[in-house]
Amino acid sequence: MGMQKRTDPVSQPGGAERKTFFVTTPIYYVNDVPHIGHAYTTVAADCLSRYKRLKGFDVHFLTGTDEHGQKVEKAAQAAGVEPLAFAHSVVVRYQDLWTKLNISNDAFIRTTEERHKKAAAHIWETIAQKGDIYKGEYEDWYCTPCENFLTETQLVNGKCPDCFRPVERLKEESYFFKLSAYGERILAHIEANPDFIQPSAKRNEIISFLKTGLRDLSVSRTTFSWGIPVPGDPRHVMYVWFDALTNYLSATGWPDAALKDGLWPADVHIIGKDILRFHAVYWPAFLMAAGLPLPKRIFAHGWWTVEGQKMSKSKGNVVDPNAMIEKYGVDQFRYFLLREVPFGLDGDFSIKALEGRINGDLANDLGNLVSRSISMIEKYRGGEVPEAESRATPIPQNDNTEPARIIRGFFQTRSDSYDAVGDRAREIAHFMDNLEFHRALSEIWQGISILNVYVDKMAPWKLFKEENKTTLSNVLYTLAEGLRIIAVYLYPFMPTSADKIWESLGIEGGIAGRSFDEEVKWGRLKPGAKVKKITALFPRLQA
Ligand code: ME8
Repeated sequence: MGMQKRTDPVSQPGGAERKTFFVTTPIYYVNDVPHIGHAYTTVAADCLSRYKRLKGFDVHFLTGTDEHGQKVEKAAQAAGVEPLAFAHSVVVRYQDLWTKLNISNDAFIRTTEERHKKAAAHIWETIAQKGDIYKGEYEDWYCTPCENFLTETQLVNGKCPDCFRPVERLKEESYFFKLSAYGERILAHIEANPDFIQPSAKRNEIISFLKTGLRDLSVSRTTFSWGIPVPGDPRHVMYVWFDALTNYLSATGWPDAALKDGLWPADVHIIGKDILRFHAVYWPAFLMAAGLPLPKRIFAHGWWTVEGQKMSKSKGNVVDPNAMIEKYGVDQFRYFLLREVPFGLDGDFSIKALEGRINGDLANDLGNLVSRSISMIEKYRGGEVPEAESRATPIPQNDNTEPARIIRGFFQTRSDSYDAVGDRAREIAHFMDNLEFHRALSEIWQGISILNVYVDKMAPWKLFKEENKTTLSNVLYTLAEGLRIIAVYLYPFMPTSADKIWESLGIEGGIAGRSFDEEVKWGRLKPGAKVKKITALFPRLQA
């Protein structure tokens, strides 16, 4: 793949001074415990956050929980407890899972917190003062599982078109938001900002939806009480999506601090495709009405099915991330989520696929390479990374043997100079910035397989027998240095394993806090470093 000039929508800081990077996940409903879908979005946001930190950004990574609305109220009733007590019991399930999954979020917001309620009331009042919220009467269909209003024509066989469950008829006094006044402006914004909604197939869906025209949106309810009271009319509670979307502002300290501190607008909202309309239509409209800037990017990923089936409680096939981590390991699970399916498309989860990735990509390709390389350095060089010509450049330019060419192709820096960042590094960075995690990983695996081919071709055991000391040192240094760089690339995906690779290479301190651009340059591994055998990085699973 040649280097082309590319635009890099994420990595450009907003202004000369601004180097913050604000990334969010949806806030998850506390009506139920976390499953693979929640883990997916959060792991992706974590991977991007870790990468941006290595790129020198001051990352603000936000996740949290959506605790109001009828759905949560009903779940609490079924459990026989007050909604808030119920929320308290479920929120820890999320927080514990994020700890286990090694999620590096900087902030966590719950919509039942005072700071959030204050912000939601404030945005409501701002929009109301502008005249974009009015009182009327609502009569239509409502899908409680989706917390979504539907017209007669949207129903499929009288049921919700998204989840296929029964809908309820609602007739009540309601406040309305003048959504209909914003369709044109949102459309214009999408057209002027091609990266606003990604991937492009999703962008097109939203464009078609907007072109059909927007109805005003009911933004309050009186039939239940578990929500944020409407300012000045507490018989009403806010529509849960009006409340929930505001979390992205309230978590930054808005209205007191966020804009001043430069966090808002968010750089990217990562969400599932199921909630794209709320983020790409309602949210921009609320923000426009409140006179606030729009998020820079909304990325909708696809949905997981499980062994070919839609995941559902009634089918009993819901994948519990806790069980996966326990059985297979955190990094294995994180890797699978981001490798198996192109980010943005739907995919299927199966134990067979997961185990195949672990035994193939992780144990065979990567784990073996690390342990072989370390063993050879121990055996042939007393456990010390050797001094070698291959430190200055992965392979001398005049070496045109096949193994030399493949190594050069991947690890060579662009200008031959010790300091240049390689083309591959730029490509991987580009994929990361575009949230093309699977492409970044497949590129990294090319590097791993190149090192594997290289060991086999160079056969260090033969070089040792033949007492070809110079070449042996070159090969061993190249392997160790190649692995050091691979670990930097892998760090956002598998932080613990990447650090372990560094540790085994005798590098002190982990990868966090380092600079991607510096660390992917060839030749930084110090000769004399004492390598360390580590227990199998990725144990093979028995069939
Ligand atoms: O929608 N595959 O919360 P939620 C992939 N509270 N991802 C999935 C998935 C699947 N099968 N199922 C769920 C809400 N997800 C609102 C959000 S934001 C202001 C409010 C993921 O608990 C995906 O990210 O239903 C989806 O968007 C999210 O879980 C929905 O979580």
